[in-house]
Amino acid sequence: QVIRLADYRPADFVLERTDLTFELDPRSTKVEARLIFHRRAGVAADVPLVLDGDELTLSGLMLDQTDIDAGRYTATPDRLEIRDLPEDGPFEITVTTYIDPESNTQLMGLYRTNGVYCTQCEAEGFRRITYFPDRPDVLSPFTITIIADKETNPLLLSNGNFLGGGNYDEGRHFAAWFDPHPKPSYLFALVAGDLGVVEDTFTTASGNEVALKIYVEHGKEPRAAYAMDALKRSMAWDEERFGREYDLNIFQIVAVSDFNMGAMENKGLNVFNDKYVLADPETATDADYANIEAIIAHEYFHNWTGNRITCRDWFQLCLKEGLTVYRDHEFSADQRSRAVKRIAEVRHLKAEQFAEDAGPLAHPVRPETYREINNFYTTTVYEKGSEVTRMIATLLGEDGFRKGMDLYFDRHDGDAATVEDFVACFEDSSGRDLSQFKLWYSQAGTPLVTVSTAYDAVSQTFTLSLEQIIPATPGQSAKQPMHIPLKFTLLGENGGDIPPAAVSGGEVTGDVLHLTGRSQSFTFSGVPARPVLSLNRGFSAPINLSFDQSPADLAHIARHDSDLFARWQALSDLGLPVLVKAAKDVPEGRPVTVDGALVSALIETLADDRLEPAFRAQALSLASESDIAREIGGNNDPDAIHAGRDAVLKTIADKGFATFERLYRELAPKGEFTPDAASAGRRALRNVALTYLSHAGDSASLAAEAFAKADNMTELAHALTVLIHRFPDTDAALNALAAFATRFDSNPLALDKWFSIQATVPGETALERVEALMKDPRFNAQNPNRVRALIGTFAFANPTGFNRPDGKGYALLADQILAIDPKNPQLAARLLTAMRSWRALEPVRAEAAKTALGRITGARQLSADVADIVERMLKG
Ligand code: ARG
Ligand code: ZN
Repeated sequence: QVIRLADYRPADFVLERTDLTFELDPRSTKVEARLIFHRRAGVAADVPLVLDGDELTLSGLMLDQTDIDAGRYTATPDRLEIRDLPEDGPFEITVTTYIDPESNTQLMGLYRTNGVYCTQCEAEGFRRITYFPDRPDVLSPFTITIIADKETNPLLLSNGNFLGGGNYDEGRHFAAWFDPHPKPSYLFALVAGDLGVVEDTFTTASGNEVALKIYVEHGKEPRAAYAMDALKRSMAWDEERFGREYDLNIFQIVAVSDFNMGAMENKGLNVFNDKYVLADPETATDADYANIEAIIAHEYFHNWTGNRITCRDWFQLCLKEGLTVYRDHEFSADQRSRAVKRIAEVRHLKAEQFAEDAGPLAHPVRPETYREINNFYTTTVYEKGSEVTRMIATLLGEDGFRKGMDLYFDRHDGDAATVEDFVACFEDSSGRDLSQFKLWYSQAGTPLVTVSTAYDAVSQTFTLSLEQIIPATPGQSAKQPMHIPLKFTLLGENGGDIPPAAVSGGEVTGDVLHLTGRSQSFTFSGVPARPVLSLNRGFSAPINLSFDQSPADLAHIARHDSDLFARWQALSDLGLPVLVKAAKDVPEGRPVTVDGALVSALIETLADDRLEPAFRAQALSLASESDIAREIGGNNDPDAIHAGRDAVLKTIADKGFATFERLYRELAPKGEFTPDAASAGRRALRNVALTYLSHAGDSASLAAEAFAKADNMTELAHALTVLIHRFPDTDAALNALAAFATRFDSNPLALDKWFSIQATVPGETALERVEALMKDPRFNAQNPNRVRALIGTFAFANPTGFNRPDGKGYALLADQILAIDPKNPQLAARLLTAMRSWRALEPVRAEAAKTALGRITGARQLSADVADIVERMLKG
């Protein structure tokens, strides 16, 4: 069944308040919902009230505290219709259902993990708890009463402020919560169980003291300290940067180990995958720390962008997600190195979102139809949504953006809003017409901007000709030209910026060039010498550039641009053609040659101690195999890409050997571990050096020594990776693998790394490894993190292993999807998206991939989640 944006209409009944009572029991939890409604003005008296359900059984129904005659309602597992309701004035419906949290393996609605009751309601999980108008534009204040066995559930939590609690009957106790801020059902949360807590407080700018609590399994409290610190920094940052204060007297976070996604922003009670809460030097990498900081911030920022202002319908998901990702990106940029953060964001955007946009699952930032909303929590909605928000900030400038945001908060607080509402705030506050810009929300596909330049010494003019093409995507063949803001500068010979005297041909504001036509030429006059154009600085627009810039010009940007991001981009543009060529040379038996300009630019950057180590680490991390595949664009052979890339790595490693060795020694950790960005940058650069050294030398001993000496997970996991990937069958590798498993036997998050590292061993042996690991007693097919660590990592991050030409990788994934789907469709559907680029493979692999997809579609009883993905994948 297809849901369409165009079909939106408001609910017939207004929900005034929601009063829920839970009597928790592992197999049979009683839920009593008392809902006060009134008929919306203008809705005819014969229109029934229709509530959503999902796998529910109705066990009691009252109208104003009196049982309703069976003839007045119809109840099915997914729908409750009640007829002959009052024409005006409020009425109260009481619905009773019994649910089974223990057998809820979908992890949507109320479920139990490790003895803890918890909920996940976004997007449509609340309807698995009780019959309800489960849509984001139905908002009400909630009162929650939780009754449960006291010994096993000392903790009874829900949204809002704590009202009170006490003993109930023998062995049971209760707690009551009230959330005064009207909210839709997807923001509801309940947690009960026995957990440890870390407590702190935060005083808001206007002087309210907020109790902060993070709940984790007993004994893990010290590992929540970093998350608590990140939370306090997030709260302070949102006040400073956006003027947003927290609005309840308590803010709680619960970490659970079985969770389908990263985390969830339920009002006042965030629920997190424990992977994004727990950290200590022994078990967390620097990437883990950065993720925790970002996700804690993200969920906290949702309090204003998502909760106080929510979405009218699920088509508007980017309204809260794209905006909140933009906010968390800005937060991390302020907390860390802005340039390095931007580089990491762009790498991630290109790897994930550009790949999605180029394949059968491409869809607009705001989709217009969907079959299963869970499948639209995508990198397009999140990351491209964030880039679209960033472009608004680029168009209006920082102050202009803040003004628009202020207006948005002011105008829409308490609303279920739309993308149009959001954009109107920026138009109204700035006076700028954003109607063409809005195409970014409705047109899918990554624009390709083709660039050519000409310099005329006689007239001292520099001409820049641009053309934009937006590729066809499923359901969208013809596209309109978009408004593309391109940050730029003209670099002079000495590296300084050349300010042109004047420009014609289009709008230029400050350092932003506005490309609005399908093709457009900008002419800069008063340019005394041929400049080097640095275009799309800071990745101001999420586009592909086709620009035949000479290696000399790229090297000039890489050396001189004052925007560090642009320097990284130039290096990467210098490297990509070399990697593409290497991938073509290898299967032809030609020797791989590496352009001298690239090698010297890289080694020079590597050795430049004025540059922060984190930047140098990024500069030396070559494009990934999937980046190269995307650049090639079709008929891809992952083995050739891998071999070509390895050969390039080896050339650079040989040429830069002395520098890598020096850095590796110099960057050895000194003193106590700290997770700050500067220290993390040194570890990152040291790890990069180790990778190159492992390609230059031929012994495992350096990596073995690194493994033995590492005092933190960043270096330990990397050393293990180098050992297992480069020297797989040596004693050093096997011993390290065994030592790691023994050491972290009781730490699931660290063991996940052990699985992932093995799942990414390049080459055809990976498949047997993964099969063997699936039989390992430590593998747990019920735990989403473990499944993602092994199966997900294999399918998403092991191009040569997964894409074996014999198709066995695809077959393994298909088997797993069919096995997981009946239990956890969301997890199955997400894993399946690993095959989203299958059409870009060479024909033998593409055929094998198609066979595996065909086997999935042919299976009986597919979930809506998997059916939707596989059908789009075969069609688009
Ligand atoms: N709103 C959550 C977040 O981004 C994610 C919820 C994902 N829900 C889903 N059904 N996939 O912070
Ligand atoms: Zn979010």
